[in-house]
Amino acid sequence: MSLRHLSQTSLQFILFGGKGGVGKTTMAAATAVELAREHKVLLFTTDPAPSLTDSFGQTIGSEPTAVEQVPNLFAMEIDASKVLKEFKEKYGSEILEILQQGTYLADEETEELFHLEIPGLDEVMSFKLIMDFMENKNYDIYIVDTAPTGHTLRLLMLPELLDNWIKFLGTLRWKYHKMVQHFARTERVEGADKFLVEMKKTVKKVHTLLQNAQKTEFVVVTIAEKMAVSETQDLIHSLSKMHIPSRDIIINNIFPRDESDFMHQRRLFQDKHIQTLKEKFPQHNVTEIILQATEVQGIDRLRTLGTQLFTETPEEDT
Ligand SMILES: Nc1ncnc2c1ncn2[C@@H]1O[C@H](COP(=O)(O)OP(=O)(O)O)[C@@H](O)[C@H]1O
Ligand SMILES: [Mg+2]
Repeated sequence: MSLRHLSQTSLQFILFGGKGGVGKTTMAAATAVELAREHKVLLFTTDPAPSLTDSFGQTIGSEPTAVEQVPNLFAMEIDASKVLKEFKEKYGSEILEILQQGTYLADEETEELFHLEIPGLDEVMSFKLIMDFMENKNYDIYIVDTAPTGHTLRLLMLPELLDNWIKFLGTLRWKYHKMVQHFARTERVEGADKFLVEMKKTVKKVHTLLQNAQKTEFVVVTIAEKMAVSETQDLIHSLSKMHIPSRDIIINNIFPRDESDFMHQRRLFQDKHIQTLKEKFPQHNVTEIILQATEVQGIDRLRTLGTQLFTETPEEDT
């Protein structure tokens, strides 16, 4: 099996996720290099640990950066906390206004409530940034190298969380409107309302895109080890519960079949887990990647890996 089908479909949004250290960034970067042969590609990372710079062996900034030696490929590292700060600068006064008008809290208390970090809000803002890029339609395919599983799940659940948050703010807003109507019988559409409408639109867009099987694919990256297999199960289960299309699994770092006793033993042990994954997910397209002798860094190595990922190999009996 291979990832070749990714280039032959209408996919626009490809996410790579899995446990820390299994090769998400490497696989996302190699896929991006490969897809850039025929498409204009923008690759993001939302992992707080900067990683694309290492993978490509060149500095990747927080704006789309042209990747040297790969025409059509652009990459950027999203700094979620910076995005959140910009968001607060843009909308902070509106949020504060809603909180102040809709509650009986004193100003200092409201301010405290606002500055209480809403868990995951920084991540949803990264997603909003990605959506803004997609809306401008400057690229054909958008690839996201996500942070380790826990983070990613939180991120993917955020449309729902954010929706609740919007509902909460909406209720406060509604109370305020009622009061205004009651006493003054006039109502103005204010910044706060515009803010709520915009946030609602964003949440809806993220939801719709994430659940669109024609456009979106979540590639699960894993390795053939017990802990990783169980984390993979959890991840795939959560994705399916959230109706996020996920049809691909990459099993990375597989030991080559070798005469040496050590390698042979290790491989037998991995074969068991590979088999388990295939049995548990018979509908998934499983791509197996061999552990290389060196780290996969720099364009040449990523190209070689990209070719492996996109070349159909005969099914091996494990
Ligand atoms: N198939 C492979 N063979 C050899 N090294 C690999 C392979 N896949 C990934 N690596 C290396 O393993 C390290 C971790 O990979 P990375 O993609 O950064 O993981 P993650 O993004 O999941 O944390 C990197 O140094 C990378 O070059
Ligand atoms: Mg990474």
